[in-house]
Amino acid sequence: MLIALFIVLSAGVKIATADEPVPTPWPPQFHALLFMNYSGDLSMIDLWYDWINGRNFNIIQEQLGGITYDLEWNNGTSFIYSLDESKSCRSAQLEVGILRPNWLDGAKYLGQQNVSGFLCNVWEKVDFIWYYEDVITKRPVQWIFYTGREAHVMTFDVGAVLEDEKWQAPVYCFNKEKKGLSTKGALREFKGYKEKAAL
Ligand SMILES: *[C@@H]1O[C@H](CO)[C@@H](O)[C@H](O)[C@H]1NC(C)=O
Ligand SMILES: *[C@@H]1O[C@H](CO)[C@@H](O)[C@H](O)[C@H]1NC(C)=O
Ligand SMILES: *[C@@H]1O[C@H](CO)[C@@H](O)[C@H](O)[C@H]1NC(C)=O
Repeated sequence: MLIALFIVLSAGVKIATADEPVPTPWPPQFHALLFMNYSGDLSMIDLWYDWINGRNFNIIQEQLGGITYDLEWNNGTSFIYSLDESKSCRSAQLEVGILRPNWLDGAKYLGQQNVSGFLCNVWEKVDFIWYYEDVITKRPVQWIFYTGREAHVMTFDVGAVLEDEKWQAPVYCFNKEKKGLSTKGALREFKGYKEKAAL
């Protein structure tokens, strides 16, 4: 009887998950332009994801404002700096490295939704992020953090890589006496997410 129950249960599980789509893993290297909206606070992010070289770069342009460079290495070190005369730089050491290509594994499928004119599959992961992927092209269309910060994907170039020189943090990031930098925490959510779920 136990065996019969087991067969019924495992068949039930199969039926329940058989036709649920799973998120497409991120390509090992890509460049995306993101239009960000945080309660009307707008910015544009140049995202260079480079899993192969263990690095991730977010170049954040605030609307009619400054540019913040947020450079993360897979050893957990990140540098957040500006390249203007303020020469500000802050570094941080996180427990975990950059997002893995399969960081969306285990996300809960929520069905389909039309978003900005694209029919999307929608998933939610650990009450942290809602992720929208084009049903046909499998490209991400947008994601929304639990804080309400929205990222709209404007371009998504698979295989694009930023030249090595551009990944060099400025010399003042390595000075003993560091200047603080206030950022609006463009990717704070992702850092929290990684601490919560990436392990
Ligand atoms: C930004 O998001 C707010 C809601 O948080 C919305 O009212 C506003 O229209 C959005 N702005 C743009 C330019 O999308
Ligand atoms: C991590 O790697 C970067 C780039 O190679 C380097 O600047 C940084 O010092 C490294 N951090 C640690 C803790 O080794
Ligand atoms: C998305 O929009 C199309 C075209 O308007 C419509 O046929 C479809 O039912 C919509 N799908 C969802 C999930 O809202």
